[in-house]
Amino acid sequence: MGKERILVTSALPYANGPLHIGHAIGAYIPADVYTRYHRLKGNDVIFICGTDEHGTPIAVTAEQEGIPPKRVADNYHKLIKKTFSDIGVSFDNFSRTTRELHYKNSQEFFLRILEKGFVYKKTVERPYCPVCKRFLPDRYVRGTCPYCGSKDERGDQCERCGKQLEPHELLDSYCAICGSSPEQKKTEHWFFRLSEFSERLNEWISEQKHWPDNARNFSLGWISEGLEDRAITRDMEWGVPVPLRNAEGKVLYVWFDAPIGYISSTQEWNAKGWRDYWQNPDCKIVHFIGKDNIPFHTIIWPAMLMAHGDYTLPWQISSNEYLNLEGRKMSTSRGWVLWLHDILGEFSPDLVRYYLLSINPANHDSDFSLKEFQHRVNSELIGTLGNFINRVLVFIKQNRGGIVPEPVEFDDLDSRILETIRGAPGRVGREIKEFRFQPALNALLATAAEGNEYFQHKEPWKRENGTTLYLCANLTRTLAILMHPFLPFSARRVWEMLGLNGRVEEQEWVSAGESPIEGGHKIGSVEPLYEKIEDKKIDAFGKKFLKPGSESKMDILKFEEFKGMDLRVGRIKRVEDIEGADRLYLLRVDLGSLGERQLVAGIKDTYKKKELTGKEIVVVANLEPAIIRGYKSEGMLLAADLDGKPVFLVPEREVKEGAKIR
Ligand code: 2FM
Ligand code: ZN
Repeated sequence: MGKERILVTSALPYANGPLHIGHAIGAYIPADVYTRYHRLKGNDVIFICGTDEHGTPIAVTAEQEGIPPKRVADNYHKLIKKTFSDIGVSFDNFSRTTRELHYKNSQEFFLRILEKGFVYKKTVERPYCPVCKRFLPDRYVRGTCPYCGSKDERGDQCERCGKQLEPHELLDSYCAICGSSPEQKKTEHWFFRLSEFSERLNEWISEQKHWPDNARNFSLGWISEGLEDRAITRDMEWGVPVPLRNAEGKVLYVWFDAPIGYISSTQEWNAKGWRDYWQNPDCKIVHFIGKDNIPFHTIIWPAMLMAHGDYTLPWQISSNEYLNLEGRKMSTSRGWVLWLHDILGEFSPDLVRYYLLSINPANHDSDFSLKEFQHRVNSELIGTLGNFINRVLVFIKQNRGGIVPEPVEFDDLDSRILETIRGAPGRVGREIKEFRFQPALNALLATAAEGNEYFQHKEPWKRENGTTLYLCANLTRTLAILMHPFLPFSARRVWEMLGLNGRVEEQEWVSAGESPIEGGHKIGSVEPLYEKIEDKKIDAFGKKFLKPGSESKMDILKFEEFKGMDLRVGRIKRVEDIEGADRLYLLRVDLGSLGERQLVAGIKDTYKKKELTGKEIVVVANLEPAIIRGYKSEGMLLAADLDGKPVFLVPEREVKEGAKIR
């Protein structure tokens, strides 16, 4: 079969924060495995990405941090790029959507589909902040999700239920910057005639039988609900300006310019050669994305490409389900998140890659747990794969002076392991080709497990005729090549320890099925491939980095988080002791319109019961209830610290119970 031409892209991450483990598992590590595999297969594959630097994600972050949007993008572009390099994601080009070339491309794309009649102007009503005196697109509005009731969600998408939102749909909405209630005000915007593409999209997606069910069914479902035209411009300063006269203060919507970023980044990579990928029907374009990006890549982006007319449509969309963290949904705004740079600061990248791939949630949500990370790494990666490689290399070093022996005769077990070597690239490769990364990793581990079994049966420490170590050395080489897509750092080390020429990434995938190491070959110096993760290390890591509310990104509270705190005046109605708890009282507090609450408070050292009854205090009223000493505690009291003892913050004069603190 001839060479395949493949263009792999990973979703362009917003440059408004660091990458977390959910990003890595969704759009980047699997894409890297896929690309590295196709490189070894000798296919003509390129891997394209960059940071998504426009839109309200960047603009709102900039306002909250009090710096210009470009600085936010500069800072996070640098951090994101470094994190990708640290975890071994091997892009051929990693660009930025703030580059000039990309502005030009996005504007030309817009003008082209405008000329073709797929874009029109319309006057519409949009939320407007009377205090900030400006329109409030997308994430400039916050409020309650109308679908799941989650509070303090963003105007473009609910973080809890994942629904795409329009700012006006939010209940109790408010301006993300100043907190005022928005008004509706008339403004002009340009709309993309998405509705006109319903039939073509439906037909095209129906034909994509090779798409995963999640992407295909979801998209067909979306179309059947009826596609509406979509505004592709916004009233804001930050973004690609709308390239028309009388369009001051209007920029292209970030989801219009971002996917064009795939093309811009490819052009940046190769100003001449890019067309071979984007304008060549024989090139397979594969988009790796997170689940919440599905409709943009299966419906809106293909419709944009259809409207434009010069480009090839995507061939495959690979997306993952959500990743939870220790059984709870991750939430960056709530600080329940594990940043990639934090875990990479403590653990080597292949351990992280291994665990993420082994729980790769291709068709169901999955969970990242530190204890399981430790367990899977120790028992599988180290116990099976590392163990085999180590055993073989150390044995050759110690008992054969580092020289691979000549094979003598082959018995049944030997022939069987030779078959294992021959079949391994096919078994692993088939799965990667089909985007089944977890089974692919299992096939790699199974190959190492067969090696372990063989070594164990042969007992070379008792008697040994050369064939066993010869075959084991060759199987180790097989594993090094097959490991490369998944575990590139350790694959390189195994290759070096084997003392082989060249680099592992220059080998051909099929050659992993051969046994070219001959008797007499001298291996390199040998060291253990991995180090077990000790309890102490994982516990300390968890303590340091898994604390809800304390983001390693920033320790300062964001305004919207502060706003999210419901502080109320309450009046203490009743005080009781809690048996066996010297410092605690059980309080009954009247919060006016919010009703009465039970609170467990550690204030017995400072306050006598009778001082408390009838007293007004300040309570954080919207915390999840906690159970303390078997009693439900439905809030927290605000107190100042006086030499380690709590002293209440109280209203300066009497106010009504339930009064809001602002
Ligand atoms: O969801 C996100 O993080 C977006 N920045 C993804 C953009 S993908 C593409 F279209 F560029
Ligand atoms: Zn405002």
